[in-house]
Amino acid sequence: MRTVSVQLGNRSYPIKIAAGLLAKLGAECARLKPGRRCAIITDTNVGKRFAKTAYESLVKAGFEPSLVTVPAGETAKSLKSVQTCYDQLAAQRLERKSFIVALGGGVVGDLAGFVAATYLRGITFVQVPTTLLAQVDSSVGGKTGVNLKAGKNLVGAFYQPRLVLCDLATLNTLPEREFRAGLAEVIKYGIIYDARLFSRLERNLAKLLKRDPKTLTDVVARCCEIKADVVSQDETESGLRAILNFGHTIGHAIENSVGYGKYLHGEAISIGQVAAAKLSHEILGLPVTEVNRIDQLFRSAGLPTQIRLKVGQDRKLATAMKLDKKVSGGEIKFVLAKRIGKVLWGQRVSPQQIDRVLW
Ligand SMILES: NC(=O)c1ccc[n+]([C@@H]2O[C@H](COP(=O)([O-])OP(=O)(O)OC[C@H]3O[C@@H](n4cnc5c(N)ncnc54)[C@H](O)[C@@H]3O)[C@@H](O)[C@H]2O)c1
Ligand SMILES: [Zn+2]
Repeated sequence: MRTVSVQLGNRSYPIKIAAGLLAKLGAECARLKPGRRCAIITDTNVGKRFAKTAYESLVKAGFEPSLVTVPAGETAKSLKSVQTCYDQLAAQRLERKSFIVALGGGVVGDLAGFVAATYLRGITFVQVPTTLLAQVDSSVGGKTGVNLKAGKNLVGAFYQPRLVLCDLATLNTLPEREFRAGLAEVIKYGIIYDARLFSRLERNLAKLLKRDPKTLTDVVARCCEIKADVVSQDETESGLRAILNFGHTIGHAIENSVGYGKYLHGEAISIGQVAAAKLSHEILGLPVTEVNRIDQLFRSAGLPTQIRLKVGQDRKLATAMKLDKKVSGGEIKFVLAKRIGKVLWGQRVSPQQIDRVLW
């Protein structure tokens, strides 16, 4: 088992990474010394595969779990689902010492995390991410929240889990498209922080796509280390943490303007990262060879790198970009790369420059 620590003083927590961890969920939670009652929040897809193992493991460790299942997909990241969860937690009489297990991908993690942050003003929360994206990104770092009609993640809280259990075996049932979408965040870590990781991904992509256990363990652990390192330096995104948003300003705008559902998050930020690499060339002189390597790695991972917009959609995209949380004072600020492995945040980009790289 690999363990990565997120260092946040008395709120520090471990990320444990290995195949088969789900069966040890109960024993791992027992170390936190919480109360007996707990709730597993999951979605329909994940629940039917893994809820039984999670449930039985908790029972075996002496807990009294209840199960809350939300529909699968981004639409579950809503205030309506938050309400459903609160009602069920209250009906099961979860109290201050009770805890919540988020069993699922980023949607369940963000939703359950927000519920845990706010129910009784905050109860203990454990992340059990089951998508590649959630294992390398969303389950670590304490950003929780839901979407509004006006945009993604507009309501939320910073709330750290006490433990993250990445069971690599759960990835075996993940659909191919979802796995590839997760790779978009993996590649991101190479671009923003670790040129050696980027080269390793170029060399080992075939093995990674086959979900070779050793390659997967190394890659997931390295990504978690990077995220942990960034988050422990800047938990609430007053500076450095912004680098994790590389490719996300355009990515989020794509998700919002063409509607949730057409592109997966990872696919939208794949397009966003390639666009950001082109902007990086224009603005920071990122060498063309590196722009091409970035473009090629996303393509080889089977991810989209360009968007075809219909008439009128371009305006919608621009509006969506202005609504993005990273906009302050009307100006769009980007994370741009100087070279692979080194990025700068807070870079001003004009709408014309964005137009040039997108259309
Ligand atoms: N909090 C953060 O820091 C952060 C970071 C990145 C992304 N996010 C959020 O994460 C969300 C996307 O997460 P996601 O890509 O994991 O999507 P997701 O949670 O919707 O999961 C993708 C699909 O895979 C299914 N699934 C999950 N695990 C499975 C498994 N092991 N086997 C079979 N099917 C499985 C789910 O039911 C769903 O249909 C977005 O809402 C995004 O905003 C949050
Ligand atoms: Zn992301």
